[in-house]
Amino acid sequence: IRVDWDATTAEKGGFEHFMLKEIHEQPKAYRDTMRGRIDVSGKHVVLPELKLTPEQIKNIRNVQIVACGTAYHAGLVGRSVIEQLVKIPVETDVASEYRYRSPIVTPETLVIVVSQSGETADTLAALREAQSHGAHVLAITNVVGSSIARDADDVITTLAGPEIAVASTKAYTSQLIAFYLLGLYLAEVRGTQTPEQIAHIIAAMQALPEQVEKMLSQADAIKDFAEQISKHEDLFFIGRGLDYAVAQEGSLKLKEISYIHSEAYAAGELKHGTLALIEDGIPVIALATQESVLEKTVSNIKEVKARGAEVMAITFEEHVAGLLKSVDQAFAIPKTLPILTPALAVVPLQLLSYYASLARGNDVDKPRNLAKSVTVE
Ligand code: G6P
Repeated sequence: IRVDWDATTAEKGGFEHFMLKEIHEQPKAYRDTMRGRIDVSGKHVVLPELKLTPEQIKNIRNVQIVACGTAYHAGLVGRSVIEQLVKIPVETDVASEYRYRSPIVTPETLVIVVSQSGETADTLAALREAQSHGAHVLAITNVVGSSIARDADDVITTLAGPEIAVASTKAYTSQLIAFYLLGLYLAEVRGTQTPEQIAHIIAAMQALPEQVEKMLSQADAIKDFAEQISKHEDLFFIGRGLDYAVAQEGSLKLKEISYIHSEAYAAGELKHGTLALIEDGIPVIALATQESVLEKTVSNIKEVKARGAEVMAITFEEHVAGLLKSVDQAFAIPKTLPILTPALAVVPLQLLSYYASLARGNDVDKPRNLAKSVTVE
């Protein structure tokens, strides 16, 4: 018997690329990041690692989330999560802008820096800038002992495990889980959600890993669409609210590894310019999971359809039949609460980028011009 074996294949656990392996590791990353942070009753989030006292939490007047790249996109979701659950004003900035825009930071500001590697130069500098104004800085990072973990006043470690592929997948979704945990914890301390509301969200969070597994088993549907879009040079993502935040991450992922030019637009903003670029056959990926604005998203879909776009929608099963009147294809994601949707909706977009990159013959794990960790300004 001859067995073809090499160390790299073994490291990839039988997957063709690290990125695909890491996409498939997400259910485990979700479970590991939640483990020990939800009490046995399933009614409370516990974050024993936090030094932030209930007193300090009650005094927080505003939150600033600062990060780069994909971590910034997690921060966009984090903004909605904290605003919705904790009712505190939140801003999210890219670190390279934050440090030079003279942000208004006070000792009552909670600054959250998000970084997979914990080594990104701009994020580290933003952390120091915030600390120099007396703010409490909480880091969400995947690397224990990293520079950001060491310098921050508090750390929530995501337990995604090592991420090798340049395009971040499981680190991003674990950052989302960290934001949900933190949002629920702050909400309980400040009394901004009822115990029933908190327990309800926790129960829905605990269902996420299995829901991701289900989507991963349906990856073939995404593969076909990815092969179609791999022939294009331009593409648009649209969505509203949390769908817009996910659209931005989907667009970045696609750019990074397929080199297809893509832009994410807040669906309602299309008519202020981007609609001019929609022409016959251009692919548009519409995120349509936020039910409070679903009708409005559908009317935006009709606007691009009327100009010849080829539209693929990501939505819940119950909306597929209705949406198929206006779109060419639809991919259903499992049902969850609106606030948790990003943790599911991003998965088909990760697969889409992966298969589009593969179809174009690119180096999926090591895209041109990009580095996994950017330690210089
Ligand atoms: C680089 C990586 C991205 C990452 C960004 C921030 O650009 O290629 O995938 O999102 O840095 O990295 P960090 O380690 O701070 O999350």
